[in-house]
Amino acid sequence: MRYLTFALGKGRLAKKALELFEKIGIRCDEMKDPDSRKLIFVNEERKLRFFLSKGPDVPTYVEYGAADIGIVGKDTILEEGRKLYEVLDLGFGKCDMCVCGPQSAKELLNHGQLIRVATKYPHIAKDYFYNKRHQTVEIIKLNGSIELAPIVGLSEVIVDIVETGATLRENGLDVLEKIGPLSARMVVNQVSMKMENERISQIIREIRTVL
Ligand code: PRP
Repeated sequence: MRYLTFALGKGRLAKKALELFEKIGIRCDEMKDPDSRKLIFVNEERKLRFFLSKGPDVPTYVEYGAADIGIVGKDTILEEGRKLYEVLDLGFGKCDMCVCGPQSAKELLNHGQLIRVATKYPHIAKDYFYNKRHQTVEIIKLNGSIELAPIVGLSEVIVDIVETGATLRENGLDVLEKIGPLSARMVVNQVSMKMENERISQIIREIRTVL
């Protein structure tokens, strides 16, 4: 029997994903050691391998079959646009994709002005403004701390995820428009879904029972 390989997005989602696996009796204690620099972990009992990667790389590993299964946020799935099967909404990591900014930017949005939009998610932002809002905007790609952009005058608004809203509040910004809800999803490589259907379907069934 070959190993089934899981790619987990580093950070909050990985921790929750491991808790979920524990609930169905799959343990990978080695992975919880915060001091470890090891990249790949094996569960011999069930012939499973796990690795942690940057969130946006998870769909890439899964599309190419380097991982059979991935746990990743819906935001990343939408942004990366990879060919894979999304099989389960895991129900954790819930947040919203939103257009945010100072209240004063609301008028610019309403009047369809040519504004600058800073974001870590250029594809999602482009799809929203061009295809749904039919508004031409300039999209500026950033890699983090997106809330800074309207404060220092890089952009009028941002497109970003809002979980508790604390980052916005502490920086004097508001949600101006909601684009859509997000949560963690399980994704599967399209060939693995056929070749390893029995094992993967069994894991999906087990996870469903504890969700
Ligand atoms: C995310 C997001 C917001 C924040 C939202 O950033 O980009 O900044 O979390 O969470 P809140 O509504 O609970 O405040 P993350 O912490 O992933 O880091 P980043 O800014 O480097 O992307």
